[in-house]
Amino acid sequence: MNHIISPLDLSVEELDKLLDLANDIERNPEKYAHACEGKRLASLFYEPSTRTRLSFEAAMMNLGGKVLGFSDGGSSSATKGESVSDTIRVVSCYADIAAIRHPKEGAALVASMASQIPVINAGDGGHQHPTQTLTDLLTIRSLKGRLDNLTIGLCGDLKFGRTVHSLIDALARYENVNFILISPEELRVPGYIRDGVLQKTNVSYREVVRLEDALAELDLLYMTRVQKERFFNEEDYIRMKDFYILDEAKMKLASPDMLVLHPLPRVNEIAVEVDKDPRAAYFKQAQYGVYVRMALILTLLEIA
Ligand code: NCD
Repeated sequence: MNHIISPLDLSVEELDKLLDLANDIERNPEKYAHACEGKRLASLFYEPSTRTRLSFEAAMMNLGGKVLGFSDGGSSSATKGESVSDTIRVVSCYADIAAIRHPKEGAALVASMASQIPVINAGDGGHQHPTQTLTDLLTIRSLKGRLDNLTIGLCGDLKFGRTVHSLIDALARYENVNFILISPEELRVPGYIRDGVLQKTNVSYREVVRLEDALAELDLLYMTRVQKERFFNEEDYIRMKDFYILDEAKMKLASPDMLVLHPLPRVNEIAVEVDKDPRAAYFKQAQYGVYVRMALILTLLEIA
């Protein structure tokens, strides 16, 4: 059974093929409009989501398939004490593929072990978010033309931001990628990313606190929201939440072709005035998320 629990579940070659397919879907959507007729996606969301859930659902609908599921764990039998394993075992009887988002790290992996159908991790706590990474890679490759030879600034909550962990995992495999990790001391990347990925792969990286100290060097700035729901106390969140605000003045320090990405939702970390800057790519990124999820569904169902 094929599952996507971590971005490393796809080799670099498989990833290239998937991104090529997503680009083909973007150019020729009608070619794929019936590819999943008779297939069902279960969308099992135990945590809030706008883009990930709706883009998965739109992806399956664009392929001619159907969708069932829940958008709030509170309306599922989880509230009665059902385990994720039991839930997925049952959902396997109702659907052909499942996307699951859960507040607990490892939940998607646990689900995949009990599942009869492919399971996609749509975010497990503060751990990983591989389909956001696929979206990010498609955006970068489509707009920059490459995934190697890049200096990437990752800014904000690098501790709890699962999109950052998955993106580092995936990009560390490409040639001549440099990371500049921009965060307050308290929100630096966790040990399993620093030791397990950055040091292990020998990728070049440096940690800085001030965004201004990195901006001029970047090909790409990946902004993130401070992950309020993962903080243990509100005071720490309030102290951290406006640590970075990217505005027009700071954009002047960046190169004219630096891209700004953000997985969204944005809170305060990018001023709305930046939206009209041609380098702001975060809304395009959300659109790419549909194409890449279509490509992923087709690949996991072995239709393409
Ligand atoms: C991200 C997530 O859920 O981790 N959102 C998304 O899927 N696009 C980022 C976030 O919530 O900050």
